[in-house]
Amino acid sequence: MDEHLIKTVNKLQDAFSTVGVHNPVDLPQIVVIGSQSSGKSSVLENIVGRDFLPRGTGIVTRRPLILQLINRPASVANGDADNKKEGEENPNEWGEFLHLPGKKFFNFDEIRQEIISDTDRKTGKNLGISPVPINLRVFSPNVLTLTLVDLPGLTKVPVGDQPKDIERQIREMILTYITKPNAIILAVTAANTDLANSDGLKMAREVDPDGTRTIGVLTKVDLMDKGTDVIDILAGRVIPLRLGYVPVVNRGQKDIETKRSIHSALENERTFFESHSSYQSKAQYCGTPFLARKLNLLLMHHIKITLPEIKAKIAAALAKYRAELEQLGDPLTDAAGQAANTTLSIITEFCSDFRSALEGQSTDLST
Ligand code: GDP
Ligand code: NA
Ligand code: MG
Repeated sequence: MDEHLIKTVNKLQDAFSTVGVHNPVDLPQIVVIGSQSSGKSSVLENIVGRDFLPRGTGIVTRRPLILQLINRPASVANGDADNKKEGEENPNEWGEFLHLPGKKFFNFDEIRQEIISDTDRKTGKNLGISPVPINLRVFSPNVLTLTLVDLPGLTKVPVGDQPKDIERQIREMILTYITKPNAIILAVTAANTDLANSDGLKMAREVDPDGTRTIGVLTKVDLMDKGTDVIDILAGRVIPLRLGYVPVVNRGQKDIETKRSIHSALENERTFFESHSSYQSKAQYCGTPFLARKLNLLLMHHIKITLPEIKAKIAAALAKYRAELEQLGDPLTDAAGQAANTTLSIITEFCSDFRSALEGQSTDLST
């Protein structure tokens, strides 16, 4: 995710927590929806940039996974811990499950294993589904404090121990998450299937008819028949979407089996778009990095519209501080008063920083 946005939001959180206001910015939840095996878990994992989600052919995601990313400054001095290679453990980055309080997972393969085990525990081993979510928190200096939700895909025909009305049950599960006006919907459709039949787009339209919080994601662009491409879809000539579509290339089943790294997958994706005759002229609008940038822009936009609320919180915090300062007497000769003055200047500095950050940021979301 965008480093500038992470820094901006962190500064805001820090300034506020010194005056006792926690989480001044309530960022939207990002929810992935679409048909089974369209590539939802793969998209989510690429956005987060860590390998930890069960992926594969068939119904792999069988319970909602609520993933809370929590930004936490590095506390262990460890050289360039944050630049460690993928797969290596980083003492400043770990996961914790709600159902295993106190246990820290520094190994992300073990996180994936625990998601699989706990899915089986609640749903049985024979492909059952359950609306009971798995709650995972990931603490890291490199993430934006944000919630992402991975969901089972829409499917019509029950297999194994799945209920006869599996389609209805999964629909209801998905609706619980995407109905919230605060949800940003990533409607995932495999590019080698017909967009007109996209379950994800249909459901997104039910809850977000104006398309103000739905981004279309086209996966498996690498698997399209030779001579076909998604150019018409991108140009809005098939099913127009206000916020548009982003084509991506995730790891295929073989890459999963050979444990291809995210880094190598992103390289492969970039090469694909840059060398494909249909996409090379618009490669900058293709792929996971562009999708991440688009999400960041939406988040910035969200902060911008909640700015009046944030300003009201600042004003209230300032008033409270002024009152406290008056009671303390001469603030310059008093340690507590000095601390309060420092906080005031952090907040003032933040406000001007944030304003200029927003001014520098294009808020045109249609590109
Ligand atoms: P989900 O069921 O929607 O969560 O989909 P997964 O992320 O589990 O992916 C389903 C299968 O499709 C896996 O075998 C992935 O490797 C494969 N897959 C997903 N996206 C792509 C893609 O862009 N290209 C290729 N070739 N395979 C993909
Ligand atoms: Na799948
Ligand atoms: Mg999945």
